Amino acid sequence: MNTSNNILNPNHESSEGAEKPAYDKAFAEDVRAGLQSEPKYLSSKYLYDKKGDAIFQQIMDMEEYYPTRCEYEIFELHKTEMLKNFTEEVKHFDLIEFGAGDGMKTKVLLRHFLEQKADFNYVPIDISANIVDTLTNDLNDNMPGLTVQGIVDDYFRAFDKLAPSKENTRKVVLFLGANIGNFDHQESIAFLKKVASYFIPGDRLVIGFDLKKDPQRILDAYFDRHDITKSFKLNLLERINRELGGNFKPDNFQYFPIYDPIEGAIRSHLVSKTVQEVYIKALDESFHFDAWEAMFMERSQKYSLQEIHQMAESAGFRCIHNFYDSREYFTDSLWTLA
Ligand code: AVJ
Repeated sequence: MNTSNNILNPNHESSEGAEKPAYDKAFAEDVRAGLQSEPKYLSSKYLYDKKGDAIFQQIMDMEEYYPTRCEYEIFELHKTEMLKNFTEEVKHFDLIEFGAGDGMKTKVLLRHFLEQKADFNYVPIDISANIVDTLTNDLNDNMPGLTVQGIVDDYFRAFDKLAPSKENTRKVVLFLGANIGNFDHQESIAFLKKVASYFIPGDRLVIGFDLKKDPQRILDAYFDRHDITKSFKLNLLERINRELGGNFKPDNFQYFPIYDPIEGAIRSHLVSKTVQEVYIKALDESFHFDAWEAMFMERSQKYSLQEIHQMAESAGFRCIHNFYDSREYFTDSLWTLA
């Protein structure tokens, strides 16, 4: 079934006339900036190409990566209470999900909301057309009765396309899976303030935070025995090879994540095991790596309850409730405008 006409896709411009570059310019320039910088870095947003999505799926399936199972449990335990809160004082709500992925966890909520005959639309937003398409088709086939209005775009441009909240309806925005942990503190506040700017009183934000816990348990989630997380990071080098004509040799890099329990941050790195030059054709440029030079790849922040409350306050929100899994490893925090 072709449901792509359900999807607002900004990339449907005619290609006539316009010279189409063979590679993604923004990606190439970001790679250049990262490899010229000291220390070197690559942005974690580029981890998710088709192969990266598949490896991340494997990460979510492995025992060590507890956040996925925690959030399932949170939804199973608290779906009734969540729906009660979402429908308080309104007839209809739009359930808007940022970075919906395969929607596996969200389906727990969607199924319950349908069973309860809640009046709502589901609006998955993702920058990847492939993801929104697959999810929309899947939901149309397997959840009849659900209204899905997928949007392929940047989160905030997508917001602009939505009808503004009005009386008797509300927006409920889901930002799950500890995705906020990839932002540093300043980026988080800027992002949350922007969400707040689209809200009217009564709208809701549900945001997933991985909590501070036994630091070994946290490190194990990012340093798994199966080397799946390692291949997730090395795939970005392979992606540069594939898309930008790079000649990275992934075997020349060691995966090395650390957890700083004071900062509460996992910081993962790829370390050059040897002195080497890497050439990238799309940039027509070579980059030098010293032996044991480290390249920063990703940050995954962990939070205390106090930090979560402070963050809500700094961005103009008030925390209504924290929903926990049984081990209290993770929280889905329910916010509204202060
Ligand atoms: C998708 C950003 C929430 O940081 O925990 C998992 C990505 N990286 N293992 C995280 C990730 C390595 C994940 N987020």
